[in-house]
Amino acid sequence: MTDLDFKGRVAIVTGAGQGMGREHAKMLASRGARVVVNDVNAANAAEAVAEITNSGGTAVVDSHNVVTEAPEIVQTALDSFGQLDIVVNNAGINAFGRFWEMESDTWWRIFDVAVKGVVGVSRAAMPHLIASGSGRLINISSNGVMGVPTDSAYNAAKAAIWGLGITLAAEAREVGVQVTTLMPVALTPMTEDAFPNPVIKDAMRTTVPASSVSAFVTWLAHQDTTVFGETFEIAGVAAGRVAIAGMPRMRVESPTPESWADSGETLMKDGELRAFRNASESFRDQMVYLAPELDDVLPANAADVSR
Ligand SMILES: NC(=O)c1ccc[n+]([C@@H]2O[C@H](COP(=O)([O-])OP(=O)(O)OC[C@H]3O[C@@H](n4cnc5c(N)ncnc54)[C@H](O)[C@@H]3O)[C@@H](O)[C@H]2O)c1
Repeated sequence: MTDLDFKGRVAIVTGAGQGMGREHAKMLASRGARVVVNDVNAANAAEAVAEITNSGGTAVVDSHNVVTEAPEIVQTALDSFGQLDIVVNNAGINAFGRFWEMESDTWWRIFDVAVKGVVGVSRAAMPHLIASGSGRLINISSNGVMGVPTDSAYNAAKAAIWGLGITLAAEAREVGVQVTTLMPVALTPMTEDAFPNPVIKDAMRTTVPASSVSAFVTWLAHQDTTVFGETFEIAGVAAGRVAIAGMPRMRVESPTPESWADSGETLMKDGELRAFRNASESFRDQMVYLAPELDDVLPANAADVSR
């Protein structure tokens, strides 16, 4: 395999002053991409840019806020490099607290950096990613969507990014832009204090360094990569697709609360999972279960966004 070459490509990485974002920016630049290193922490962004330029790469600092200044970030790419081919929506913040106890401002700040940040930067970037002819949009979600007590704002926001990504992947493929969602794991400043046990932290330091996620991001960002549209867990050298799946259905005799009260235990039994790639598949599956004659009528419509 020859090295994946990014000469002639321009990338924005948000939240690239530290952690995974910095590693993504460094790896893309090391392969020839010109990179906008965005971070509200301007000093960290400048440090990242210095690392890149000292190694012979090309990068510029952008310290706009993804929540309130998304168009300006895209403008930095255009002003500095005249085009935009790749966006990695990586910026994020987190804080813990019970849903009903956390200050409202804090809750929404966490949510907004993730959701408004991804939406704002992506909307501003789309025309340019379309113009690129091989645009790549990589959004960073989290396995937190599966639930972590005291992390509701973060997890709600990451679930929004996940849902957005599934729909956007299907929409954007029509205009030649490949959208992919990642749920990474890495030891970074964000997770440094989450694992006080030194054994876990040491294992994470060696097995899930931030730079290994960058390898996956860089592969997906490449113009020749045909894999996209999915949600991937990525940690160290291991990755897997994440699917929404349903347990076996059951039916009741009549639509009364009492029928469901009698059936609760059956409903909670585990069984064979069916993966749904989009809402059409889920809808079809439910309708055919209830009205099998629709099997021939409802379109399969497995709008498979990955191939
Ligand atoms: N570390 C993990 O294991 C993990 C797991 C799942 C998801 N993630 C996600 O991966 C991404 C990177 O995480 P990380 O662990 O490297 O975090 P990090 O805290 O090390 O880096 C995040 C960066 O985003 C920047 N940022 C925050 N708000 C911003 C804003 N409004 N505009 C621009 N930049 C802003 C911060 O200044 C910081 O440099 C985040 O979206 C995070 O939620 C991380």
